[in-house]
Amino acid sequence: MPIIELRDITKSYGSFDALRGVNLSVRSGEVTCVLGDNGAGKSTLIKILAGLHTQTSGDMLIDAQPAAFSSPRDALDAGIATVYQTLAIVDELSVWRNFFLGQELTGTLGTLKEAEMKRICAEQLREMGIEIPDVNVEAGNLSGGQRQVVAIARAVYFGARVLVLDEPTAALGVKQSGVVLKFIAAARDRGIAVVLVTHNPHHAYLVGDHFTILKLGRPELDAPRSEVTLDELTRQMAGGGELDALSHELQRD
Ligand SMILES: Nc1ncnc2c1ncn2[C@@H]1O[C@H](COP(=O)(O)OP(=O)(O)OP(=O)(O)O)[C@@H](O)[C@H]1O
Ligand SMILES: [Mg+2]
Repeated sequence: MPIIELRDITKSYGSFDALRGVNLSVRSGEVTCVLGDNGAGKSTLIKILAGLHTQTSGDMLIDAQPAAFSSPRDALDAGIATVYQTLAIVDELSVWRNFFLGQELTGTLGTLKEAEMKRICAEQLREMGIEIPDVNVEAGNLSGGQRQVVAIARAVYFGARVLVLDEPTAALGVKQSGVVLKFIAAARDRGIAVVLVTHNPHHAYLVGDHFTILKLGRPELDAPRSEVTLDELTRQMAGGGELDALSHELQRD
């Protein structure tokens, strides 16, 4: 049974249809990839899952029950955590402070349980296979990939069943993207459902179980891994013949 099921979702901004006829099934222990070019509607879809926007029409089911989120709190309560590209990581704070930001462990008199938070933070990062030698360093010193990973580890630790990631590798080089993709695979192997939004078919195919490509708000492809190859995914993302046409046009002699 899917944790989240979207059926025939439409989202209009005024007279503009950002999404039309979109279906999505999000399952425990699977990575559902949402691909598409700029303006395809990926972030709009994420905002519906995160409780920031409500669909114009269509149904959202959570654990097979009809659901309507009226705020991000509702989505969090359903176990859906969203990590946006603009990460909620504070550069000036240490890694462990960031990890517990807004959800600090306190003793009876409201004192911070500092040692315990440091221990848990280090333990969680280690368990998920990330090497950050010292959780006391300022988050500003981390690489882009490590920052992504801290934000994801935090969501996992605080009980996310569904992890929604908006372009987590977009600003990263090959090596750092690898760190994030390995981490996504580790979350999946723990039984978490991951929704991975990306432009990059190669990144999607390394970890994905199901692929949806949006084009101008419409689903252009909706297929499980067994029915699509990396080549097909790459071609579809390149707009079918569009890249061939471009290559012809740009031909140099
Ligand atoms: N609040 C809004 N009001 C009006 N139009 C919007 C709004 N938000 C998004 N749009 C439009 O909806 C379309 C889809 O936008 P969206 O941000 O979902 O695309 P995206 O696939 O995330 O693109 P990108 O890859 O560039 O992040 C775009 O044409 C965008 O201009
Ligand atoms: Mg976007």
